Amino acid sequence: MPEELLRRRFEVRGHDFENAGERSAEVTAILKDLDIDPGIILRVGVVAFEAEMNVVMYADRATLTFVLNDDQIVVEMADEGPGIPDIELAMQPGYSTASDAMRDMGFGYGMGLPNIKNNSDGFSLHSEVGKGTRVYSMIRLE
Ligand SMILES: Nc1ncnc2c1ncn2[C@@H]1O[C@H](COP(=O)(O)OP(=O)(O)OP(=O)(O)O)[C@@H](O)[C@H]1O
Ligand SMILES: [Mg+2]
Repeated sequence: MPEELLRRRFEVRGHDFENAGERSAEVTAILKDLDIDPGIILRVGVVAFEAEMNVVMYADRATLTFVLNDDQIVVEMADEGPGIPDIELAMQPGYSTASDAMRDMGFGYGMGLPNIKNNSDGFSLHSEVGKGTRVYSMIRLE
C-alpha cells in the first residue's frame, strides 16, 4: 500500500473567471516546496489547471482533492454541474462547447481533457447528466 504523505482539499467555484487557476497554483506551490521533480510538477499543474478551468467554464462548484503518496500523486476534481452527455466526444481533441466569450479569453481549444489524460499515468472520467462530473488523474513519482 502506498503511504499517504499529504492530502489537501480545495473548493473551486464555477463561473468564477476572476479567481480561475488559483487552486491549481496552490497545488503546484505545495509541490515546489517539497523535493518533487519539476517535470512531475509541470504535469500535475497541467492536470489541475485544466480540470479547474473546466469547472470554471462549465460547472457550478467542485471539490479538488490532491493527495501526495510516497509513489504517486492523485488529483481528483468532483463537480456539481450539467455533466457530460457524450464522454467519448468530449475526450476528442478539438471538441469544445466553449462560448465565444471563453474563446476570446483563450480557452475552448478542446484540449483540456486530452491534455489531462496525456499527462496522467492513470485517468478516469465519470459523469452523470444533470448531476456532475468526476475527473481522476494519477501521476507516478518513480
Ligand atoms: N466539468 C465539466 N462539466 C461539464 N462539461 C464539461 C466539463 N469538462 C469538460 N466538459 C465538456 O467537454 C468539452 C471538452 O473539454 P476540454 O477541456 O477538452 O475542452 P474545452 O474546455 O472546451 O477547451 P480547452 O480545455 O482547450 O480550453 C467541453 O467543451 C465541455 O463541453
Ligand atoms: Mg477545458
